[in-house]
Amino acid sequence: MAGDGLPETLVTSDVALAGAILRRGGLVAFPTETVYGLGANALDDRAVAAVFAAKGRPRFNPLITHVASEAAARKLAEFPPAAAQLAKALWPGPLTLVLKRKAGCPVSLLASAGLASIAIRVPAHPLALALIAAAGVALVAPSANRSGAISPTTPEHVLAGLGGRIDAVLEGGAARVGVESTVVSCLDDEAVILRPGGLERARLEAVLGRKLGQAQTGPRTLLSPGQLESHYAPAAPLRLEATSVAPGEALLAFGPDVPAHAGAMENLSATGNLDEAAANLFAALHRLDALHPAAIAVMPVPEAGLGEAINDRLRRAAAPRPEPRPHAIDGP
Ligand code: TXA
Ligand code: MG
Repeated sequence: MAGDGLPETLVTSDVALAGAILRRGGLVAFPTETVYGLGANALDDRAVAAVFAAKGRPRFNPLITHVASEAAARKLAEFPPAAAQLAKALWPGPLTLVLKRKAGCPVSLLASAGLASIAIRVPAHPLALALIAAAGVALVAPSANRSGAISPTTPEHVLAGLGGRIDAVLEGGAARVGVESTVVSCLDDEAVILRPGGLERARLEAVLGRKLGQAQTGPRTLLSPGQLESHYAPAAPLRLEATSVAPGEALLAFGPDVPAHAGAMENLSATGNLDEAAANLFAALHRLDALHPAAIAVMPVPEAGLGEAINDRLRRAAAPRPEPRPHAIDGP
């Protein structure tokens, strides 16, 4: 037992061991190309419930099921033509498809949070694919952070948020993409982006040969219940579109032209590269937040390419925080 009374979380690079822990109902965080996920056997109601408890996640927020191939996904869900096109072109990759559950789909209903749909993705990370194979089952995996907090892109981030609450972390270095997958609903043949993410809109539109609707918050929360307004939040408040820095503030910069500032600073990309900025986003927020600044001033980031996902995460991190609602949260 750790000094604080929590059981230790094992840090390992042993995929076979991590797979065995998952098979017996345990919780294992693992690397994907986007962020670290908190994995559990998707077929095991108790393991899936334990994911909600470890994260303090509201039960109305459904989980993504991770499989190793489109063929495995097709056993779980209905694929209308648009979904088939996207899966063929973009899996493995940072794309999650929300599809109709097949009759007899064995994935725990808890993962769908009462919806008739299921979110599925094939991650583009060799360790994630090896772990799914070692476990021998599909894995539910939300981002491996406490609900509402900044997503983890390193094993250290996972341990800082969930250490002592989960069985193990499979080590795999820093996540390459850095923001979560793009979530696309394909429930009828109409594809709608529910969450901008690591696969940019232009790639989806190129595959489908048509423009996709703007991802929205508000009414869309009905479609993607996880799109709570406040999310990805550091402890420090965020001030967006900053062109100068106030005393006591830390600076989250972007690009070569940085305002004069004596205090703490992280530059998402000194050259203004949006892919690099996405990869650095959560680690930079983690580092600045650890300094307990009065606030984090965030320079404007263009809305192009992965900028859409970066700005989505920044807006949610800056959104007013809800009062804690203990009755809505699953405690351990
Ligand atoms: O990149 C990612 O997607 C990472 C890695 C670990 O794969 N996972 C991740 O999971 O970001 P999570 O739980 O943090 O976000 C899942 C999102 C939420 O916004 C949730 O509401 C949405 O997917 N979602 C899951 N199932 C859904 C469903 N049936 N209908 C609509 N939205 C769904
Ligand atoms: Mg998350």
